[in-house]
Formats: sequence, structure tokens, C-alpha cells
Amino acid sequence: DWNMPDYVAEAVAAIREQVGDEEVILGLSGGVDSSVAAALIHRAIGDQLTCVFVDNGLLRLNEAEQVMQTFGRNLGVKVIHVDATEQFLGHLAGVSDPEQKRKIIGREFVEVFQVEAAKLPKARWLAQGTIYPDVIESAGGKTKKAHTIKSHHNVGGLPETLNLKLLEPLRELFKDEVRELGIALGLPHDMVYRHPFPGPGLGVRILGEVKQEFADLLRRADAIFIDELRAADWYEKTSQAFAVFLPVKSVGVMGDGRTYEYVVALRAVQTQDFMTAHWAELPHSLLARVSNRIINEVRGINRVVYDISGKPPATIEWE
Ligand code: XMP
Repeated sequence: DWNMPDYVAEAVAAIREQVGDEEVILGLSGGVDSSVAAALIHRAIGDQLTCVFVDNGLLRLNEAEQVMQTFGRNLGVKVIHVDATEQFLGHLAGVSDPEQKRKIIGREFVEVFQVEAAKLPKARWLAQGTIYPDVIESAGGKTKKAHTIKSHHNVGGLPETLNLKLLEPLRELFKDEVRELGIALGLPHDMVYRHPFPGPGLGVRILGEVKQEFADLLRRADAIFIDELRAADWYEKTSQAFAVFLPVKSVGVMGDGRTYEYVVALRAVQTQDFMTAHWAELPHSLLARVSNRIINEVRGINRVVYDISGKPPATIEWE
């Protein structure tokens, strides 16, 4: 039970003390934890912080622009924006196995980050948005088992070969405290209360082989779903919601023509800890609006289905 302005002042002082006049590098993903860490460290040491934002081509619609807008332009944080779309999609070409895809995306992220870190030889610290539940988890907590089901990766998974000291200013905070801190630091509400997004991004929401065309269709369908959830005040009643691209074609009818196009599945869940989850009982009228909009606005999709599987036995992500 602490007072937020006092906490910010203390955390800022601690970071200044720890870092001194050395330089810090941080992998910014656009997620809550790395964003709050970036804002806090920037508050403490300003231009001694450089963030690296890697666009792997598997981000959501306008996500890169939003991150650059919030951090680069609004907060004045130094952010290096690396567009590595071709590199990631190139290595993913022809690969359809989910674990293989995750490994490639994780490996390429480390690769890109190392190249960028090498351009900042003065950096002595690697900052990470590790929060208290992550600390517990890596100490062998109850979520261990999930990691044998899917190999998770996120921007925290950088190798020790970088030879940097670790700066983890959120290590003692729970998620709700991280969010409060983000608001106190002036981050936008929508960024701080965003649903979690997996490190491999749309790579695990495009079933099978990842193609640029599929990613572009999925981004648009997903944005429509999220828009309508927000408009109906359902976004914050769900823990996670997204669209999934199914590389399956089905027959439809449009005007007086026959169509033969791809399918999008909608997934929305409610959960406390993401270990078990219920599918969200979204109003039928909301589902109808989303379906109509996707089919009318996204040429290439002619069918939308809703995922009514709980976890377990289904996982939240489809891959
Ligand atoms: P599943 O699909 O295992 O997902 O039920 C549980 C939660 O974990 C997220 N997730 C990931 N997060 N890197 C991440 O940072 C990953 O590789 C990854 N895989 C799944 C998923 O979005 C859900 O919130």
C-alpha cells in the first residue's frame, strides 16, 4: 500500500544511483511491462536510455506507428525503430510447424537486437520489464508446466553474451501496480490497459506457414474485432481477444458471384491467471457486427467463426 508519486520519486532515485552516468539499452515491445519500464527509466536518466523497437512484421495494425508516436514524439524517448519484416518473414517462409516458427522468431529477435546493441558500444546496462510474477515463475513456480507445452519467448529472453548488467526496475511489482505506475508516468490508458500480446505476435495466430498476405488480412480483421469490442465496452471485460487466420478456403456468395476465400476465427477469453480460461460470452449482436464488418471490409475473408473452447483443453493461442 504505497503512494504513487512517492514511489516514482524513490524508483527514479534508485535508478540514478544504480546507473550513474552509464548508458542503458532496452528492448521495447509496445507491451505494458517494457513500456512502463522505458517510461520510468527515461524519467530517471533521460537520454542515457536508448530503446530498440523491433518490427518483426507480425505486429498488429498501426502498432509500430503507435509506439513511435507515444515514446518518440510524445515522451521524447530515444527509440531506434528497426523494420526487420523481410528478415523475419524470409526465415519463416516454408515453415509451418508451430514450435519451429516460435524458435525462428525468438532467434531472429536476438539476432536483430544484438546487431543494434553493437551500434551502442557505450551501453553498460540492459533494461528489462521483468515484473514480480516473472521472477516467481523463473524460480520454478506453477506456470512451469505451460512452458513445456509451448516454448514462450518475449523481449526478456536475451542472451548473457551481450555482456551487459541487468536493470529491472519493475521486479517487485505486480501487474496492477505496474499499470498504476504507467498511468502516473503519463502513459496512455489504452497502452497501460492493453491485453497481453505474445512475443511471436501474429506468427502464432496465422496457422501454418506465415505469409505477408495472410498477416495483412489478419491485421485488418483483428483491428475490426478490437474496435468493436471497445465500442461495445467489452474490451476491458475480456482478458484477451484477437483474430486468428485459418489458411482454409470455403465457398461463399457475394452479390451474384461465388467466392472462395479464407476463414478468420475470433477468440475472446476471460481468465485470472491465463493458466485456465473461459471463452467470453460476447453478445450475439456484437459478434454479428464484427462478422459483417470483417466480411464486408476485408476482401479475401468470406467466413468468420467464434472459438468456444475453454482452456483446458484448448490453449488461448491457436499455436
Ligand atoms: P496459451 O496459448 O499457452 O497462452 O494458453 C497463455 C498466455 O501466454 C501468452 N503467450 C505468450 N506470451 N510469448 C509471450 O510473451 C510467447 O511465446 C507466448 N505464447 C503464448 C498468450 O498470449 C496468453 O496470454
